[in-house]
Amino acid sequence: MTSGRLTLSWVGRDEALRNTADGGYEWVSRQDPRVTEVRLLLETGKAGDVTGTAADNLLIHGDSYDALHALVRNPEYGNHYRGKVKLVYIDPPFNTGQAFQHYDDALEHSVWLTMMRDRLLLIRDLLAPGGSVWVHLDDAEMAYCRVLMDEIFGRGNFVGTVVWQKIHARNNSAQHLSSVHDYLLVYARSKSDLVLNKIDRTELSDQEFWNPDNDPRGPWRRSDLTASHAYEDGRYEVVGPYGDVFSPRGNRWWSCSRETFDALREDNRLWWGKTGRTFPFRKRFQSELGGLVPTTFWTHDEVGDNRQAKAEVTKLFDRSRIFSTPKPEALLKRVIQIATDPGDVVVDVFAGSGTTAAVAHKMDRRWVTAELLEETVETFTRPRLEKVVAGDDPGASRRPLDGKAEAASGASRHRRPRSRSPMAASSSRIGSRAKTLLPSSQPSWASCTTAQTVDRSAARRDVLGWPLSTASWTRSWPEALLGIWTRENEQ
Ligand SMILES: C[S@@+](CC[C@H](N)C(=O)[O-])C[C@H]1O[C@@H](n2cnc3c(N)ncnc32)[C@H](O)[C@@H]1O
Repeated sequence: MTSGRLTLSWVGRDEALRNTADGGYEWVSRQDPRVTEVRLLLETGKAGDVTGTAADNLLIHGDSYDALHALVRNPEYGNHYRGKVKLVYIDPPFNTGQAFQHYDDALEHSVWLTMMRDRLLLIRDLLAPGGSVWVHLDDAEMAYCRVLMDEIFGRGNFVGTVVWQKIHARNNSAQHLSSVHDYLLVYARSKSDLVLNKIDRTELSDQEFWNPDNDPRGPWRRSDLTASHAYEDGRYEVVGPYGDVFSPRGNRWWSCSRETFDALREDNRLWWGKTGRTFPFRKRFQSELGGLVPTTFWTHDEVGDNRQAKAEVTKLFDRSRIFSTPKPEALLKRVIQIATDPGDVVVDVFAGSGTTAAVAHKMDRRWVTAELLEETVETFTRPRLEKVVAGDDPGASRRPLDGKAEAASGASRHRRPRSRSPMAASSSRIGSRAKTLLPSSQPSWASCTTAQTVDRSAARRDVLGWPLSTASWTRSWPEALLGIWTRENEQ
């Protein structure tokens, strides 16, 4: 290869993974039929009105690779989803090394990378030209995943990294630093085709508006009329209402020409202070401003935090059912609002308690979600989505989706009556179907060791448990753990 692109190298990069019965993975060849074979989906239930076609909202019980593979390659689903999905949000296990109640979060680093690589490649195929993928991670793997995604989506399609304040209390017993944020890595399928929506204005963003001169156009805020960059038409003197003469001082220029300044004055869009004798500012009317461009720092006040997310799931069920790592509905609402419009398809193949699909449904988006563990599907995902489809979602109906800021304003917009839904005419919008992935038709090949049960003390095995005699690589552990940077055209 002569591209000279930087690539991340890791042990097992040329291999593939298969899910094992215990929820772990085993290494297999990329030609293994269990990897290449597209799995069939068997219907196991439905909720609400469904069309019976692939366009119905789908809850898939099974591995995310198999679910994505079916959505991309199975002709029935491919026609609906390949190249047509507007948003993929995933919240995979972060690889923190912990064992949560409902899933294990301690994969070998190279297993995690391979697992993500294979799913991200399929996600790329799903995305519409104007679509985007949002990957939710913490510090354990974010940096590696960013490099991986550069490779898969192209560096030019990197949109940004959102930092979400997941906790708002300090852990004073943390050994070094008390971590209070997660990351959302955002990539476009094609950045030139991506148009993200603005977010609603908030009380906080609008608090500086006032109307001391009773302007009939309503509240406004001051905006600077000068700029620090040299502007050819920006050097002139202006005369205030009481004959005072003003011009920008030092290395500053007017940010508009004299003609524009005069037009603003003519339309009563200048503010010379309460006395009419201070340096002029421009009046920016609240009524004329659109939404806000989203920033990359999302606070718990705006989009909730981990505690709020747990409370939401607990409200839905009895207290004996507590999911370890749900995300707040307001966080998903913001992602979905920015990246999609009503009727668009939202996909999340690490469903957990089903937050993404639940919020997507309430926002009139179509959805597909997949979860590996049957216990999680039956305890959380399916019952939650059934409640949402039935409009019986007490957690969300008691509390507005936009978090505390919206709660303070008393607004509640998420639970629209069905008749007002833009998709109300489509029965596929209303119901959902539950499907399970049929087992591979291939015989199980007893071969590789599951990464999670690697015996590192075994003398003739490498770090992933492969017998050294048959392994195609012989790198040492630190190199394997960290990955190495290579240029593809270097030997
Ligand atoms: C961090 S949780 C997702 C939480 C979710 N965002 C929510 O709000 O509830 C990750 C989920 O991914 C599931 N999971 C792990 N590996 C998977 C795989 N290979 N395929 C599908 N789901 C998987 C886990 O069982 C777990 O429920």
